[in-house]
Amino acid sequence: MARTPLLMGNWKMYKTVAEARQFAENLGQRSADLVSGIDYVVCAPFTSLHVLRVMLPAQVKIGAQNVYPETEGAYTGEISPPMLVEFGTQYVLAGHSERRTLFAETDELIERKVRAIVEHGMVPVLCVGENLSEKESGKTNDIVAAQVQKGLAGLQADQVAAAVIAYEPVWAIGTGKTATAEDAQVVAKEIRQLVAAQFGETAAASVRILYGGSVKPNNIASFLAQPDIDGGLVGGASLDAASFADMAQAIG
Ligand code: G3P
Repeated sequence: MARTPLLMGNWKMYKTVAEARQFAENLGQRSADLVSGIDYVVCAPFTSLHVLRVMLPAQVKIGAQNVYPETEGAYTGEISPPMLVEFGTQYVLAGHSERRTLFAETDELIERKVRAIVEHGMVPVLCVGENLSEKESGKTNDIVAAQVQKGLAGLQADQVAAAVIAYEPVWAIGTGKTATAEDAQVVAKEIRQLVAAQFGETAAASVRILYGGSVKPNNIASFLAQPDIDGGLVGGASLDAASFADMAQAIG
C-alpha cells in the first residue's frame, strides 16, 4: 500500500509569533518548491499555531508538540485536545524524548495522550527511541518495542493505520550524529513488524514511520529511500524556511 511521505518540522521552544510569521512569509515565497504528493506539517509552540494556520501555504498543516489528555479541568498550564482542534491543529506529537526525560513523562501518560489525540480527530505522532547507553548495550529493539506497544495500547487497528510513529534515537537528536539510513531502516522495519503482530497487516502497511535525529536537506533523501521510512521529523533544520523547502525538493 502506498504511503504518502510526510515532512514534519518540530520547532521545539523556538520562534516568537513575529518569527513564525516571517517563516510563513519566507516559505510562501518558496511554495512552488513544496512538491505535491507529500504531506507537510510544522509542529510549533502553541503561541504560533494561529499565525501559522492563517499564513502558511495551504499545503502545510499545523501540528502541536504536546497536549493534556483531558477535555477541560483544573490542570494549570495545560492545553486540551479541543483547544488544539479549534486552532485547526491536525497532528500532535506524543512521547518526544525531551518530554520523556526533561518532563518525566511515563508510557502510561503518553498512551493517554495518544488516545486523546485520536479521540478528537487529530493524528498522533508517537515518538520512540533509545538513548546512547541503551544503544551501546544492545537494547535498541527492546526499548523501541516497549515504547511502541505501550504507546499504541489503547488504539484500534484502524486508528493505528492512520497514526504516525517517529523513530528518533535520542543520541542523534540535535547532536549532528545521525543513524545511518540502513540502521534506521532496521528499526523502522522492526516497528512495522511489531505493528503487524499487534494490530494486523493492514495497519502495518498503512502506519507511517518517520526517522528523526539531525535530519537535514543533504541527508533526508537517504532516509526516505528506505522501504519502511515514510518521512522525517526534523528539529533544527525545520526552523529555516529555505531549508524546509530544500528538504521538500530533496524528497520530491
Ligand atoms: O523531533 C525532532 C528532533 O528531536 C530531532 O531534532 O534538531 O536533531 O533534527 P534535530
